Amino acid sequence: MSRALGTTAREERTWWKEAVVYQIYPRSFNDSNGDGVGDIPGITENVDYLDSLGVDVVWLCPVYDSPNVDNGYDIRDYRAILDEFGTMADWEELLSALHARDIRLVMDLVVNHTSDEHEWFQKSRRRKDGYEEYYYWRDGAPDEPPNNWESIFGGSAWSYDEVREQWYLHLFDEHQPDLNWRNPDVRDEVKELVMWWLEKGIDGFRMDAINFLSKADGLPDGDPERQLVGSEHYHHGPHIHEYLQELHDETLARYDVMTVGEMGGTSIEEAADYLADGGGRLDMVFQFNHLTVDWGADGQWSLDGWGEWDLTTFKKVVTRSQNDLAGEFWDALFLGNHDLPRIVSRFGDDGAFRRESATLIATFLLTLRGTPYLYQGDELGMTNTAFDSLDEVDDPMTTGIVEELLAEDAVDSFDEVTDLVDYMSRDHARTPMQWSGDENAGFTDGEPWFAVNENYPDINAETAMADEESVWHHYRELIQLRHDEETLVYGEYDLLLPDDEQFYAYTRSHVRETLLVVLNWSTESARFDCPGLDTDGAELLVSNDPDTPANPVEREFRPYEAAVYRLDGGES
Ligand code: NOJ
Repeated sequence: MSRALGTTAREERTWWKEAVVYQIYPRSFNDSNGDGVGDIPGITENVDYLDSLGVDVVWLCPVYDSPNVDNGYDIRDYRAILDEFGTMADWEELLSALHARDIRLVMDLVVNHTSDEHEWFQKSRRRKDGYEEYYYWRDGAPDEPPNNWESIFGGSAWSYDEVREQWYLHLFDEHQPDLNWRNPDVRDEVKELVMWWLEKGIDGFRMDAINFLSKADGLPDGDPERQLVGSEHYHHGPHIHEYLQELHDETLARYDVMTVGEMGGTSIEEAADYLADGGGRLDMVFQFNHLTVDWGADGQWSLDGWGEWDLTTFKKVVTRSQNDLAGEFWDALFLGNHDLPRIVSRFGDDGAFRRESATLIATFLLTLRGTPYLYQGDELGMTNTAFDSLDEVDDPMTTGIVEELLAEDAVDSFDEVTDLVDYMSRDHARTPMQWSGDENAGFTDGEPWFAVNENYPDINAETAMADEESVWHHYRELIQLRHDEETLVYGEYDLLLPDDEQFYAYTRSHVRETLLVVLNWSTESARFDCPGLDTDGAELLVSNDPDTPANPVEREFRPYEAAVYRLDGGES
């Protein structure tokens, strides 16, 4: 992560800028032993699949020992592998299999909180010597939390511990107590475990909820009118840059690794702060501004106004991060992950235009400036599923929020929020990977831990790989294009037609070459006319429609047609 003398962040070439990342949610990827739960050998069995898709990096969601209240984001032992997922030897085998194919491995670093079953919490709640201050403990009557902060998963951010007879803070579930980063011993523990994994030869970390580590002095009450009460006191808290700088300087800086920090509730300027000043603290940030365009006025779980978004607003938000983050520093490009609905259901049309819209979205993700992050199954165009009752939902965030809405009488029954849950739940991304048309989509020989999406006979890897026109083949072609065309990695981004409600079009220019991306992001045909843009002699590089003419560019585009051209005068 150190910079060559005389280069700036925007100019510096690095492997992680040139990489395409593929995210794996192990529980739902592939079950090798028939217990219904995806596992590490199940991933190793599929490294050739990843290799043929062409990805360069795997980001592995947590595989550490955990009671799984939040599917591994509640860690009990940072240095052990969850039994259900396999052994450390299995993990080592996966690492070698990936490295043998030049695919790097990035692990998930979850250090804002631990599981309440972690040894540190167990010692802390018993006031064992040295561990008293590992978490945020506060006095108070058992019916009166120390402040008004709300948990991101619904309810208060405080729970009362009967053993220690004090309250503890948890920004997420009550079984995920927040670590007290003010305590230097906590910071040392984290540095040690980071070094432990780096020494094993991994290639970086995705850092969970990393902008929440530092809490305001005195943990004051939050503004009760805020969407998430209290968040102003820990989103980019007073010492956050100091903590991350220390972590970087004492561990990460010694290795050739990449880091990407997950940052909810972050403006583009705030995200940029972590990349500025020599880019020391982090390499990339997952910020979510572009993923709020379809929320209602009360945020992600607004009962009204959700699900509607317009392309011009979306273009404006993406263009800001292209200019101010990717343009100045670098950006993490993503629309989906394990916490989000399926991208084709959210930003495309998962009915009549599923193939077209899924491939359009792929074209978008793989032609912007930044490092693209693909989520498992999106390369197949996997879609959202449907939930008939709260019992079918697994995600603690969805259940917590729905229970809160029921408790507050905001709704009378699950039926009133079914549509919202069917749109927004994190579970949509967690249905098992659809490998084939065999029973359980070929994910497991046993009973899957979570129901397989019913559309697997049509949407699955085996079928997609056999069909040259499939979403899968399009991803593969675009990944190859990104590897071949330096302009797609390092080129400048310039938005065209900002007010057009159907086309998202932009150029990427680098040295003497200009590429043009035209996306008809709509269910209607439309004519692409771009005054001032010289498209004479344009060469078609990739399209999601077999009938796209090599030229001209200025013509009628079909619904969700997406094409990438090299404009005349360019040099390859
Ligand atoms: C963000 C993770 O992506 C999510 O899955 C998890 O529930 C929370 N952080 C808490 O770790």
